[in-house]
Amino acid sequence: MTIEDNIQHLLDKREEAKQGGGEKRIESQHRKGKYTARERIEMLLDEGSFEEFDMFVTHHSTEFGLDRQRYLTDGVVTGHGTIDGRVVYIYAQDFTIFGGSLSETFAQKICKVMDQAMKVGAPVIGINDSGGARIQEGVKSLAGYAEIFQRNIMASGVIPQISAIFGPCAGGAVYSPALTDFILMSKENSYMFVTGPKVAKTVTGEDISTEELGGPDVHGKKSGVAHFIAEDEKEGLLLIRKLLEYLPQNNLEDPPVTECGDPIVRKEDVLNEIIPAEPNQPYDVKDIIHSVVDCNEFLEVQRHYAQNIITGFAKFNGIPVGIVANQPNFLAGVLDINASRKAARFVRFCDAFNIPIVTLVDVPGFLPGSGQEYGGIIIHGAKLLFAYGEATVPKITITLRKSYGGAHDVMGSKQLRGDINYAWPSAEIAVMGPEGAIEILHGKSIKGIEDEEERIEFIKEKEKEYKDKFTNPYEAASYGYIDDVIEPRNTRFRVIRALQALASKKDTNPLKKHSNIPL
Ligand code: HXC
Repeated sequence: MTIEDNIQHLLDKREEAKQGGGEKRIESQHRKGKYTARERIEMLLDEGSFEEFDMFVTHHSTEFGLDRQRYLTDGVVTGHGTIDGRVVYIYAQDFTIFGGSLSETFAQKICKVMDQAMKVGAPVIGINDSGGARIQEGVKSLAGYAEIFQRNIMASGVIPQISAIFGPCAGGAVYSPALTDFILMSKENSYMFVTGPKVAKTVTGEDISTEELGGPDVHGKKSGVAHFIAEDEKEGLLLIRKLLEYLPQNNLEDPPVTECGDPIVRKEDVLNEIIPAEPNQPYDVKDIIHSVVDCNEFLEVQRHYAQNIITGFAKFNGIPVGIVANQPNFLAGVLDINASRKAARFVRFCDAFNIPIVTLVDVPGFLPGSGQEYGGIIIHGAKLLFAYGEATVPKITITLRKSYGGAHDVMGSKQLRGDINYAWPSAEIAVMGPEGAIEILHGKSIKGIEDEEERIEFIKEKEKEYKDKFTNPYEAASYGYIDDVIEPRNTRFRVIRALQALASKKDTNPLKKHSNIPL
């Protein structure tokens, strides 16, 4: 072969690899409204930054006629590239080759990028679109999954791991995304379940569609498995780019601080009047979040799940933070099982990756009742408590209104190593609200008063006494549990000052193998 022939041979092989499972299957992928693995990578990464590994890999199986079906790449496109100039490792399952199903060599390709990402300290992004274990390879394929799971586990808390689901993700295959930090699903064509509708029908008799069992609506709203739901693949890929703006490359780095065009001292007069006069009247805490963060930009995580607590990323003077906020607009902002789990995982993510946590508190307590108790609110509430108490990143807490009972302790209180705890003048920090407290403290006396007017007067007087004492921030401030009572319109400035002061914060936990968070 001449040198020219050699080069041509290489180019031909490259071209062959780029054709995946062939034109027909690519067309079929497009007809379903899906992009190919290569198109997805191209859209996600900075233009021209993709460097591919293992293009010439094929499987080594011979059974079930596989010896006559070999495709370059073996069904997964892997390599590295950049997003906003920062290195990421990536793999994208190619549905046009054996339905993106996972073989031994396919798994080895994924493991290679994961291993290198760990050495380099760079995020891994996995794009899932697969029929699961390659049936013809049997147990080798199952072993391949386990190799990936083990790497997901070792990488957890070391490098950010992000999973996009743009097609089927079924069976044990769901557990790799589940072990990563964030799962994003597109509204079209994506689904995830451990057992599909047919198995459900056989085993339990349940008649249910793919969509109803594991579509994006289910995982965005009901199960909380998915952190982001995108309208389509394009939006999903842009969301991943956006998410990375808030994250460090690895656990030894700080998140990237960017230039900020939004004035630090921007006062928001509207905040001085945002808390309704009536204590039980709701308001949207997202209005507060948007008005205090840089350029009103807030990337909400698990937007449709457990909406009584809000979690997401924003920046203050260019510094990325994680925000946790009770939402009075939904179930009065109460803490329940789902809200506790959602926020606990978010707090732990932030802590693992050196992202300061800003907590906005307006919580009437834990949701009472048998539903919650039978479901284990004790354990789930403890998760959030544990997450806050264990976190060593800068923790800034601002009490906006109610902060009652156990929920007060949980939500980034001073005693859980809250670094800077502020309150608005509207804060009410107490064991419980006035109505409940008066009923318990004076129930017998109230019952003894026969005259209705007299009874109402007595209750009013006792409530006033209680409110004067507790339903304000000053009692807590008198013990130093609140560092300062701040004017709401200055919140942005005060948070930025706090973040600047805490930038070099160092705190540690005792040496141990690992903690035993109540799971
Ligand atoms: C080998 C597979 C495959 C698989 C699909 N294909 N899944 N090949 N192993 N698991 C191939 C098909 O033969 C077909 O090949 C091509 O991919 C496209 O598949 P279609 O069925 O034509 O596509 P579609 O109609 O869109 O249906 C997609 C699908 C379906 C819903 C994913 O293919 C399917 O149900 N596949 C099997 C899913 C499954 O049960 N997987 C095992 C799960 S258990 P041609 O040559 O015609 O293009 C599991 C355990 C993991 O994964 C354990 C980890 C611990």
